[in-house]
Amino acid sequence: MGKCKICNKAAERIVSFGKMPIANGFLNRIPSDEFFYNLSVAFCPECFMVQLDETVKPDMLFNADYQFISSTSDAMAGHFEKISAEILEKISGKSNPFVIELGCNDGIMLRHIAARGVKHLGIEPSGNVASLARNNGVKVLESFFNEPVASQIVRDYGQADVICGSNVFCHIENINSVFKGIGILLKNDGVLFFEDPYLLSIIKKSAFDQIYDEHIYYFSGLSVSKLARKHDMQLVDMHPQDVHGGSMRYYLKNSLSNTANNKVGEFLSEEKALNLDRLHGYSTFKDNVDKICSDLRNTLSDIKRKGNRIVAYGATSKSTTLLNYAKIGPEIIDYICDITPNKINKYTPGMHIPIKSHEAFVKDTVLYALLLAWNHKKEILEKEKEYRRKGGKFITYFPEVVIE
Ligand code: TMP
Ligand code: ZN
Repeated sequence: MGKCKICNKAAERIVSFGKMPIANGFLNRIPSDEFFYNLSVAFCPECFMVQLDETVKPDMLFNADYQFISSTSDAMAGHFEKISAEILEKISGKSNPFVIELGCNDGIMLRHIAARGVKHLGIEPSGNVASLARNNGVKVLESFFNEPVASQIVRDYGQADVICGSNVFCHIENINSVFKGIGILLKNDGVLFFEDPYLLSIIKKSAFDQIYDEHIYYFSGLSVSKLARKHDMQLVDMHPQDVHGGSMRYYLKNSLSNTANNKVGEFLSEEKALNLDRLHGYSTFKDNVDKICSDLRNTLSDIKRKGNRIVAYGATSKSTTLLNYAKIGPEIIDYICDITPNKINKYTPGMHIPIKSHEAFVKDTVLYALLLAWNHKKEILEKEKEYRRKGGKFITYFPEVVIE
């Protein structure tokens, strides 16, 4: 078994999903050969971090053709505006405050900070989304983040009052270098906060589709508090977030004179009650996942056997794990509709299901749609009232298969 990427101790395998293609690697045409890697997850009994065994080189994932654009959901736009409001509150009264966001994507959050004339910097390695951020008035450093980059930023701009990141910390394999960089870049009285899919939600719902190449770490309060301490920081607060199917926002401060609040204690107790600090806590995960996959395949086969067509809704990155592991391909799903312009007319990685526009779905008379973007269910049900009024049904599958 491999070594823990954080503390270098032996990590223990939780589950293997076999060969997987790149989750966001939507294809222009069906290729004769495709890149696959082994997708499996391990647990470190020393620092409690759940992590990928094998990782894919970051420049294969985050490059000038990065296909995940943050601003495709109204709910997410609202979510990021709220983060900006929280930051503005945190820095009020400070003289010339400086806000840094790691992985600013298209500037969905920082644009609100920029619009207030606050000194800020977005750090974004993917060229295409970095340009979108610049168009949104955001100052961007097009780079990965690590210790040398942190030193360079301090030289060029000074230290930061706030450093934050959404769905980015879990993407970075050398997270120790990120924390060393933050140690250099964050003022002594500054705050670091970041949010990522929450391990406890993944385990509780068996939401294994959160597991894919970009998500190297599956954080919990248990693992983040250990990681913080390793880097002389303290996990001081935790706020659950209703995005990406269940996320957690962690607040970290300099360890000197800062202590964890009661909420941290409550989340750590809940995580311990589920045994997330020992391998035993993960022992039923694979069986639960396999049951969902076989129930889902049976449900879809039944629908087809009765002469119905099925499409899918939202060509999400996480659906790559679901579709490939459950072996759901174009013989079951006619197409996936998606509103992201650069996904339309492409094929999904591995299973090669065609992606069509939302208009194609609206014009269709299909009555069954597999809701791959299940994390946006509320927004999508609201948007698709007409489809449901005509008898159209959505199929969801976490924590169990439901047709509604
Ligand atoms: P995400 O789950 O990683 O946020 O990705 C959501 C995907 O679903 C993205 O490709 C956009 C797509 N989508 C739609 O097609 N229609 C919608 O109404 C929403 C909210 C998302
Ligand atoms: Zn470890």
